[in-house]
Amino acid sequence: MKPASMSDYRERARRRLPPMFFEYIDGGSYAEETLRRNVRDLEAIALRQRVMRDMSKVDLSTTLFGQTLSMPLALAPVGMAGMYAARGEVQAARAAAGAGVPFCLSTVGVCSIEEVAAAGTPPWFQLYMLKDRGYMRDLITRAKDAGCPVLVFTVDLPIPGARYRDVRSGFTGLSGLPAAINTLWQGATHPAWSWDLFTQGRPHTLGSVQAAVQGGGRVNDFLAWIARNFDRSVTWKDLDFVREIWDGPIVIKGVLDPDDARDAVRAGAQGLVVSNHGGRQLDGVSSSIAALPRIADAVGGDLEILMDGGIRSGLDVLKALSLGARACLVGRPWAWALGAGGEAMVSRMLGVMRSELTTAMILTGCTTAARANADMLDVAAPQNL
Ligand code: FNR
Repeated sequence: MKPASMSDYRERARRRLPPMFFEYIDGGSYAEETLRRNVRDLEAIALRQRVMRDMSKVDLSTTLFGQTLSMPLALAPVGMAGMYAARGEVQAARAAAGAGVPFCLSTVGVCSIEEVAAAGTPPWFQLYMLKDRGYMRDLITRAKDAGCPVLVFTVDLPIPGARYRDVRSGFTGLSGLPAAINTLWQGATHPAWSWDLFTQGRPHTLGSVQAAVQGGGRVNDFLAWIARNFDRSVTWKDLDFVREIWDGPIVIKGVLDPDDARDAVRAGAQGLVVSNHGGRQLDGVSSSIAALPRIADAVGGDLEILMDGGIRSGLDVLKALSLGARACLVGRPWAWALGAGGEAMVSRMLGVMRSELTTAMILTGCTTAARANADMLDVAAPQNL
């Protein structure tokens, strides 16, 4: 059976990946309420069907930070993607380039900035603020030297939210012999994944944070490493430090509150991502789609507003555009597709998103994605926002 919708990619990834990686991708924090809200609140929005409007031409393209995107979508930063398929970040970056959309490389990627950039189009680079400012300076300089056009500064992870699925799967919390046995067992019982990674990959330390990292963090040390090295003292002033080194566009990722959005504008950011980290941080906060209109009201026009969390179809993309986003990011959909079958599956997944968005635009009478607005929504229908 060929994968059609995002849930098919998820199911394939579930079968192919060792549970510790599948659960890491799939899960959220604590009771996963926000993770569910992200999806449910998007589902609850009603589109407004329009007919007989000559929709022979629709334009999905948009522009962001001087770049032209073939559709208003980008691949969100996802940590450790090189563990879902061999050289995973490179494979996903190639698929994104082929589809004409940006790929954003995580600070905690497996493939280095240079490797991903050398494989094709330089990626957007996502930054976590680590305590070691010398290391930060090097990292930002490397992103600049590699030609990364946009820096995405993630601000909603001063401390990792507890993800209970990772404890249960042994992804976190184990060390020494039990960790080794768990990893070996999960690898042995998922031979297609093991064959792919161990015949085509390189040693699986966190190469990018390159690793992490001073100390060459192995997978099981990952969360402990985050807890030790991420900087909780960060404030808007630290953006000045980043600005000293980086002169391109800066996008603040992880904003849910209009006051924070105004601060991002005051701090000189060129964009922000309305995001709750895919429901992986503070459980119980509102969905990203519910936060979006308030933020668009507060700062729309002052900077570019992106949104992520729960986007599972091109129809969802149109809903977010209609409520004020310039473009959306997807996290799990591409991570599932990568785990399901590498670059080819990520390309296919992007093709599905494109065709769903095209259909949604045609049936709502939206000819130009860059001009989608609240007219595309059926405001008379019950909305859950
Ligand atoms: C993430 N996310 C994330 N964000 C970030 O800024 N840096 C990172 O390294 C990661 N790592 C990461 C790993 C995994 C497995 C997931 C699922 C997510 C968050 C990500 O960029 C994005 O905000 C969410 O994934 C969006 O929600 P959806 O599309 O997954 O529902």
